[in-house]
Amino acid sequence: MTCQQLAISAFGDANCLQLQSATSSAPQGSQVLVAVAYAGVNPIDAKTRAGLGWAAQQNKDKLPWVPGYDIAGTVLAVGEDVTQWTVGQRVCGFIGFPLDGGAYSEQIVVDAHCLSEVPDVVTLEQAAALPLAGQTAWQALEKASVRPKDRVLILAGAGGVGHLAVQLAHAKGANVLATCSAENLAFVASLGAEAVDYQAGDLKTQIQPVDVLIDLVGGEVGIAALACVKPGGRVVTVPTITAEAVNASAKVAGLHAQGMLVSPSVAQNEQMLAMLANGELKIHIAAQFPLSRGADAHRQIETGRTRGKVVLMMQG
Ligand SMILES: NC(=O)c1ccc[n+]([C@@H]2O[C@H](COP(=O)([O-])OP(=O)(O)OC[C@H]3O[C@@H](n4cnc5c(N)ncnc54)[C@H](OP(=O)(O)O)[C@@H]3O)[C@@H](O)[C@H]2O)c1
Repeated sequence: MTCQQLAISAFGDANCLQLQSATSSAPQGSQVLVAVAYAGVNPIDAKTRAGLGWAAQQNKDKLPWVPGYDIAGTVLAVGEDVTQWTVGQRVCGFIGFPLDGGAYSEQIVVDAHCLSEVPDVVTLEQAAALPLAGQTAWQALEKASVRPKDRVLILAGAGGVGHLAVQLAHAKGANVLATCSAENLAFVASLGAEAVDYQAGDLKTQIQPVDVLIDLVGGEVGIAALACVKPGGRVVTVPTITAEAVNASAKVAGLHAQGMLVSPSVAQNEQMLAMLANGELKIHIAAQFPLSRGADAHRQIETGRTRGKVVLMMQG
């Protein structure tokens, strides 16, 4: 079966994303062929497309490369060893991370064990937006050992990871503060945080000290926010490119800081799908673009100002 994909044949700006035709192979053994309905778009997709980071370095001699790590769709066919999935089931997953990617495709063959069933009340669009961002939020809070009543400051509370992290931290019983621009104050407050306008002045003068900092911005912004953390407090800085610099400054300030690389977890994905289904978690989709307009989706994510998530919709 042939399908359309969005691929890069060279690193560059968003225009280097081009449609190509591919032939899907039949799933073997424990593999499943998924008809992808939506693919999530994440900042790492755009960074890798531009040739930045480890995944780009590892893939530079393997172009063309199809970006994307989040899929949601239906099972088209299963390999002979697959017992847990049947044709037509609605599934989603965090796939091919960090090297293979492949989600920007109407069809993809994946291992059966990386998929989760999508509950009836969760749309495939929501299910595609959740995996990478949701698991990053979940794991950042776990790494920081967030406990009930902790004061937790989340930088970029309106973004893909941030808007989920705010809700997950709130659900843990933490007192959540989150930064955003003035346009996003009401949105972030609606998720359960005390929203703080980062453009309204020095953060340190706006908030009382916190136990935990979840830094989703990095660089100078992450370093400046260290001044808001109590002595001996915990810091998790999520953008990998600036993690070393933020950690070094945190150490000087006497804080416990660490970076992280999200690791795919079906168990976490399923817990968050259940939370979406019962209304404990909401996912905000700022924009959906057809696969053929993937370049516009990348331009949107590269603004650094997206509220919630961006997804690609397959035409097939
Ligand atoms: N290490 C890992 O495993 C891992 C995994 C996932 C993501 N990441 C990284 O984590 C970062 C966040 O990812 P994401 O998907 O959440 O990105 P995103 O959705 O693109 O984040 C956009 C948000 O950032 C906010 N923002 C921009 N500048 C800000 C500032 N100075 N202070 C506070 N908020 C600001 C914007 O809010 P306003 O419009 O209100 O300014 C916007 O809502 C990215 O660098 C990404 O690459 C790393």
